Amino acid sequence: MSILIQNGTLICPEGPVRADLRVEGDKIAQIGPGLPAGSSQVIDASGRLVFPGFIDTHTHFEMNKSTPRQTADDWASGTLAALAGGTTTVLDFAEPERGASLASALDAWHSRADGRASCHYGFHMTIKDWNPTIQRELADMDRAGVTSYKVYFAYDNLRVSDGTALEVVRAVGERGGVVGCHCENGDLVTAGIAAQKAAGNLGPSAHPLSRPAAVEAEAVNRWLAVGELAGYPVNIVHLSTKRGLELVRMARARGQAAYVETCPQYLLLDDGKYQLPGFESAKYVLSPPLRGAEDQAALWAGLEAGEIDAIGTDHCSFHYHGAKELGREDFSQIPNGIPGVEHRPVLLYTAGVAAGRITPHQMMKLLSEQPAKLFGMYPRKGALAVGSDADLVIFDPEHTGRITAAAQHQAVDYTPYEGFETEGRVETVLLSGEPAVEGSRVISRGRGRFVRRGPSQFWR
Ligand code: URP
Ligand code: ZN
Ligand code: ZN
Repeated sequence: MSILIQNGTLICPEGPVRADLRVEGDKIAQIGPGLPAGSSQVIDASGRLVFPGFIDTHTHFEMNKSTPRQTADDWASGTLAALAGGTTTVLDFAEPERGASLASALDAWHSRADGRASCHYGFHMTIKDWNPTIQRELADMDRAGVTSYKVYFAYDNLRVSDGTALEVVRAVGERGGVVGCHCENGDLVTAGIAAQKAAGNLGPSAHPLSRPAAVEAEAVNRWLAVGELAGYPVNIVHLSTKRGLELVRMARARGQAAYVETCPQYLLLDDGKYQLPGFESAKYVLSPPLRGAEDQAALWAGLEAGEIDAIGTDHCSFHYHGAKELGREDFSQIPNGIPGVEHRPVLLYTAGVAAGRITPHQMMKLLSEQPAKLFGMYPRKGALAVGSDADLVIFDPEHTGRITAAAQHQAVDYTPYEGFETEGRVETVLLSGEPAVEGSRVISRGRGRFVRRGPSQFWR
């Protein structure tokens, strides 16, 4: 199939370019002004922005499978929602059972995703246990195209010691991969929860009080020390605080390579959500929690200044009814996480580009190019360039709309962005060179393919 996209503004690696773009098969074949239509199917992109397909660096689909705490979105609904919103590749977190091999988690994630995913996908691997057998498995993961990992400093069933974190960063770094960390101090969280309960605070408003900014800042500082001692770059996932960003800035000033992901919820939602009536605030229980205006302003300034490298959603959707309600009597039992995979691009366009905070080129770097580089997919993904995969988004910047749960593809009974006024919308998506969204409606399902990734292509 050959498609010619005419008259669009292409958001290319070097900046916006008014040009045509031809797709042949599943690749970008030509970019230039006035390309002849020939036998190509023509899409008129006048007045539209054309982006490389967006990459979500952080999702949790079908997490806690077969438990009362299973996420609402499975691989079918989660990737369909991603595609509808212009995300053509997701990186989801595979998680081994305690004591199990990395291979077992990889197999489990493949069996959930293969043949069901509507957008392309890769897996980060969670390290819970660390021993010589697991270490040897890193080579198998490389061969399988899994080159990025996550460790946790919080959650009793997940967290690793500082010594383990150091060994993981060294072992992965030697292979050219990258490790991300959930930076919250688990002991301090446990103490914070106990203190809130002792004070009789059992509702969701106690959640942010149990894990304040210092809990993240301490863990960011420790993670940076781990990276420094290991001598390899480290990634900080879902950064939420000004203090955390300041620590990264200082580490970089000392010459350290550190990468930062934040999420739309930390840019657009604030801790006022923990003061909603009844049990409504449970919809906003995630970790790290939502923060205040000062943190939001610092994260926006960090985005504008190029200090933040990627925006992932941390999409981890739980129904309000039935799942979040498990914590009605005790906030610490509310499943942690919120949905967002469908809305990240339009949210960033609205609050970032249309609001004049960032340019379309910066948006492309945050949602496509830098994720592709950090996670070893560039320039196959993340670039409008000849030879790159033809995963493309045609975006109408003039459209105005509103986010509602009623209209979403996410299979969860609410959206934290209910009623948000949006500017711009994803009009057309090509997935591997074939239309997957047309007129903002998804027209193809189950065409997502696993993306084998190589070593990180660090730029810091
Ligand atoms: O609350 C959150 N973020 N849940 C998902 C798991 C994680 O920590 O990323
Ligand atoms: Zn996390
Ligand atoms: Zn997460």
